Amino acid sequence: MRILVTGGAGYIGSHTVLVLLQSGYDVVVFDNLCNSSRKSIERVSSIVERQVNFVEGDIRNPEELGSVFSKYHIDAVIHFAGLKAVGESVQKPAEYYDVNVGGTAKLLLAMQKANVSRMVFSSSATVYGVEAPTPYVESLPRGSTSNPYATSKAMIEKMLEDQSIAHPDWSIALLRYFNPIGAHESGLIGEDPLGIPNNLMPFMAQVAVGRRDRLAVFGGDYPTPDGTCRRDYLHVMDLAEGHVKALESLYKSGCCAYNLGTGSPVSVLEMISAFESETGVKIPYKIAPRREGDLAEFWADPLKANQLLGWSAKRSLNQMMADTWRWQSQNPDGYN
Ligand code: NAD
Ligand code: UD1
Repeated sequence: MRILVTGGAGYIGSHTVLVLLQSGYDVVVFDNLCNSSRKSIERVSSIVERQVNFVEGDIRNPEELGSVFSKYHIDAVIHFAGLKAVGESVQKPAEYYDVNVGGTAKLLLAMQKANVSRMVFSSSATVYGVEAPTPYVESLPRGSTSNPYATSKAMIEKMLEDQSIAHPDWSIALLRYFNPIGAHESGLIGEDPLGIPNNLMPFMAQVAVGRRDRLAVFGGDYPTPDGTCRRDYLHVMDLAEGHVKALESLYKSGCCAYNLGTGSPVSVLEMISAFESETGVKIPYKIAPRREGDLAEFWADPLKANQLLGWSAKRSLNQMMADTWRWQSQNPDGYN
């Protein structure tokens, strides 16, 4: 089976491409490299000792997409390509809707033309909105979103549901990721954000390696056990394996959402102490004001993915820390 992986050069995409190749799938990566490096794919190639088909292109460009579907026989699509920075989405809503929503619509049209009707989509826990009770469970409705990034993910989910209603032979899995962190155990591929990292784990890793002075812990007065926010962090390799399980479920038609998380919340202070005890590296930090838009805590109810996909997160928080540190210490400047 051959899988088209849009955004496959990025953080989650590159790990998923690796797991797909190791599971015996053929892969074509389609990415415009706006937030990634070709080196991620070269390194995946070196780990699996196989060439990976790579096409540089933009999901908003029907000709570029069309030529991939004509050149390769594609059985299913895993769709990671998109923009993902929450703060930037508030500044540039049109760009976010154009790439995320418009780009996905173009991809659906290209799939229709090529008679490809199976898709796994990168959604996010953010679609539950700002008022959902925890843990988040798939039976909750999508909630009210508070930024264009989150709204774009909710809009895409709705578009994909509509597509599957109009075309009952289509099969789509909406994977709602919680907080992916970590890296492949080789230390050869990992998360390499451009500029100052927005997310906790890459920021902490850059403090540890000496690229940044100290971590600002956003808020110490939340109604949580230690006053800092709690999230459901999962290992990116567990997440990558979830995509293979989701692909295997696409023999059934319809559109189905699954939470991919561990089911256990961890606070920011617990993250710092887990990193320090696993790596022996101290993280200087300071409690800073809350970040606008942050929720106090949320985590997954992962039962549906357990039962219907046969998936569960297996790797421990210590392993997430060890693998993050291996990647960051071996590649202090990322892929540069
Ligand atoms: P990433 O930025 O590393 O990967 C996205 C990839 O898409 C990049 O390689 C980028 O170059 C490519 N891309 C962007 N716009 C494109 C376009 N117009 N045409 C072709 N390629 C394009 O991000 P990631 O962390 O790997 O996230 C992958 C997906 O998962 C995204 O859709 C993101 O919204 C979603 N997601 C990520 C997280 C997270 O915490 N990382 C959480 C929930 C959902
Ligand atoms: C963020 C996005 C979310 C997106 C997710 C994955 C926001 C408001 N939310 O989630 O929509 O789906 O990334 O891409 O941006 N923290 C610090 N210091 C830092 C960075 C983070 O204390 O320098 C804290 C945050 O307050 C939060 C926790 O660490 O409590 C995790 O933050 P982050 O990694 O950015 O993920 P989310 O906020 O959960």
